[in-house]
Amino acid sequence: MTTAVKPKDENIVWHEHSVDKAFRSQLKSQKPAVLWFTGLSGSGKSTVAGALETRLAQLGYHTYLLDGDNVRHGLCSDLGFSEQDRRENIRRIGELAKLMADAGLIVLSAFISPHKAERELVRNLLPDGEFLEVYVNTPIEVCEQRDPKGLYKKARAGEIPNFTGISSVYEAPETPEIDLPAGDKTLDELVEQCIEALEARKIIAN
Ligand code: ADX
Repeated sequence: MTTAVKPKDENIVWHEHSVDKAFRSQLKSQKPAVLWFTGLSGSGKSTVAGALETRLAQLGYHTYLLDGDNVRHGLCSDLGFSEQDRRENIRRIGELAKLMADAGLIVLSAFISPHKAERELVRNLLPDGEFLEVYVNTPIEVCEQRDPKGLYKKARAGEIPNFTGISSVYEAPETPEIDLPAGDKTLDELVEQCIEALEARKIIAN
């Protein structure tokens, strides 16, 4: 595994270990991948990623789901929602997802990840074909109507600054590997669409 980021100290040298990504993946009989779910708050990222993970686990694949709200309770608990903090949030998750793919896992991540640049940064951490952008494409009106955590209401009342889609930007993916019309279809249909895309890309067997 190589890395594009240079350590702060010049005396830190990369060490190659003998159990490598290929070996770990082979032990698990699977191809590692990062399925990067992006979309507005309330779009259904965690729900679809969770249902897809269940399906993959039932099929015998080794997975890990990284969820925005959960990761912000631990690894990223020091970060808020300024542009700078969101960038750092995604950078850390990207590096974490890369390590998990290096462990041979199929990683599912569910973060708003509003900026194209950060999503591209994560894509570029991984070998070609291993990063799949999954756009949970739910119109903001639907997200706002669902408002599962009551956050849109608070944001409209001016109680949450920098709220994505209202007072902070969301840059929609232009050519995602998987585009999910999540406002129109059932959860089962969305999971099926993901499974078919993974089969077509030979990430899982059909
Ligand atoms: S990201 O922009 O840095 O990718 P992330 O996915 O980790 O965001 O966290 C989003 C979750 O934090 C939302 O689902 C929502 O529950 C909560 N949240 C709290 N404040 C905000 C805000 N200002 N904008 C968007 N989501 C927020």
